[in-house]
Amino acid sequence: MKEESLVSLKEFNSFGVDSVANSMVLIENEQDLKQLDELIGTKKFLILGEGSNTLFSQDFDGIIIKIAIRGWEVKDENEEAVQLRVGAGENWHEFVLKSLDEGFQGLENLSLIPGSVGAAPIQNIGAYGVEVSNLIDSVEGFDLIGNGFKTLMSPECEFGYRSSIFKKELKDKFIVTRVNFKLNKKWGSLNTEYRSLSAFLKKNKMDDPDPRSLSEAVISIRNSKLPDPKKIGNAGSFFKNPIVDKERYKSLKEKFPMLEGFQQEDGSFKVFAGWLIQNLGWKGKKFGNAGVHSEQALVLVNLGGAKGQEIRELAMKLIQEVKKEYSIELEPEVRIV
Ligand code: FAD
Ligand code: EPU
Repeated sequence: MKEESLVSLKEFNSFGVDSVANSMVLIENEQDLKQLDELIGTKKFLILGEGSNTLFSQDFDGIIIKIAIRGWEVKDENEEAVQLRVGAGENWHEFVLKSLDEGFQGLENLSLIPGSVGAAPIQNIGAYGVEVSNLIDSVEGFDLIGNGFKTLMSPECEFGYRSSIFKKELKDKFIVTRVNFKLNKKWGSLNTEYRSLSAFLKKNKMDDPDPRSLSEAVISIRNSKLPDPKKIGNAGSFFKNPIVDKERYKSLKEKFPMLEGFQQEDGSFKVFAGWLIQNLGWKGKKFGNAGVHSEQALVLVNLGGAKGQEIRELAMKLIQEVKKEYSIELEPEVRIV
């Protein structure tokens, strides 16, 4: 395992922010992890996949542990379903496409999400009506406290909306090495309910899409409103969609009749943070070299040469403005370092 010193992080974060880390180590297999304890000692460290949900607001005075464990294997299968074991360092979208090529169904709505397989369970990635927790059987990893390998079954991962045990009790204590997925070989009804997805299917006369064409529909929608990080630095939604209780939702609705909310199982309502920001007039606005994306107000962008600190300041400003207008505290989805 090689440790590289003074590493520019520009290529390692989707905001394209030019911060520097003291050092970086590449973890390519399980063996490498056994040496980590000694290497880290008491130093600060950060686990990194592809950096597409991470904002470096300053230089990082510690070790970046970059996960590059590769591999894909069929662990089990029968006529109906397949279980796949996939390395944490595999690229998420390539994995989705490969699973579809093999004729497996389940991941199509999660097409084109940037990042690594290992980061998918961390915030329980989700899009177009599907969350990855629906498809995860178990998560394998290395426990930095107990210094050993462990497997957590899906219920033990405490998955929620953009949340899991890996963002709470196990934050920075557990390195995901491999994820086990359960996918369908015989597919029945697909998930086409999400509003913009069903509208796209209707418009394009796709009455009965197969998983591959559903994936293509998702890719088209995403390309129409989310900036490509290779061209415009961003990390997708910067904030989570806030969840408010029924009374709060009712009073907000009286003041803002156009506000939409979706009732959750417990009776609370999820509201669109993109709408809250757009309604304040921030969509497309610039703030130094940072900005609010013109097609999606929940996405903050690097308009060119932005420092991480500038993007962070814009995020803090939006939190303040949203709080002032709606008494809602936006919570960042992106990890701010
Ligand atoms: P990183 O940014 O490297 O890491 C994210 C977090 O996970 C950090 O806390 C890190 O410490 C931790 N981590 C990473 N790898 C490991 C590991 N192996 N073990 C333990 N901890 C680890 N997200 C969605 O949910 N839905 C979307 O639709 C979506 N769309 C996006 C669109 C764009 C254009 C972009 C840029 C981002 C989008 N995202 C979306 C966010 C992002 O794609 C996901 O959060 C993705 O899972 C991040 O993967 P990563 O490898 O880049 O994570
Ligand atoms: N909206 C606006 N203005 C905007 C953006 C959105 O009014 O500028 C309103 C519209 O009413 C729109 C609704 O918000 O219909 C929903 O917009 P969209 O479908 O784009 O979804 P989102 O709630 O903004 C969430 C996820 C995305 C995910 C999409 C699709 C969060 C924080 N974000 O965004 O995930 O791709 O749904 O499922 O839950 C991410 O997490 O990084 C991410 C991109």
